[in-house]
Amino acid sequence: MSKKIGILVGSLREGSYNRIVANKFVELLPEGYEAKFIEFGDVEYFNEDIDTPEKTPASWTRLREEIQSVDGVFFFTPEYNRSVPAALKNALDVGSRPYGQNSWAKKPALVVSVSMGAIAGFGANHHLRQTLAFLDMPTLQQPEAYIGSVHELIDENGEFNEGTTGFFQTIIDSYLDFFNKLV
Ligand code: FNR
Repeated sequence: MSKKIGILVGSLREGSYNRIVANKFVELLPEGYEAKFIEFGDVEYFNEDIDTPEKTPASWTRLREEIQSVDGVFFFTPEYNRSVPAALKNALDVGSRPYGQNSWAKKPALVVSVSMGAIAGFGANHHLRQTLAFLDMPTLQQPEAYIGSVHELIDENGEFNEGTTGFFQTIIDSYLDFFNKLV
């Protein structure tokens, strides 16, 4: 049976570079792995007052169930003000509760930061890693995946050059090696 990889894209905008990179990673996944995009743009803000069985929003239940249904998780994140976008942080928070029922726990993670800038989302990448450590998600350490100046890596047909595609494949292969030791 295929192993399932959840894909979370931190940018909600149409035409997102993070989503373009995520789609490429999905294309490069070998046989035996199935990608499942987990969307969270509609997920209500976390609020402890409604974190009860009676008041739980449907969007929270849906997100938690989708996280529970995957074996590993790829995060693609832009950098917003040197951190991750609020929508992604909200998804991390919602998935971590109710208290004692952290849906993210033990799922091996990959962090990819994607930016048009030269710093390549370093701040977002490492803020995200800090949260994943607390969420008990073992996270691939090497190779690090900082995709900077992303607009220069894509040609007029929307294709990545050979070197970039090869780097993406190396990241995926390293992740799957790590994942298969854990899952
Ligand atoms: C940004 N952007 C940005 N870029 C960066 O390298 N460091 C940063 O701190 C920020 N901060 C920031 C804040 C806000 C509110 C916005 C809207 C944007 C630029 C951002 O990374 C850029 O728009 C990316 O292209 C977003 O990724 P997607 O949407 O293309 O996937």
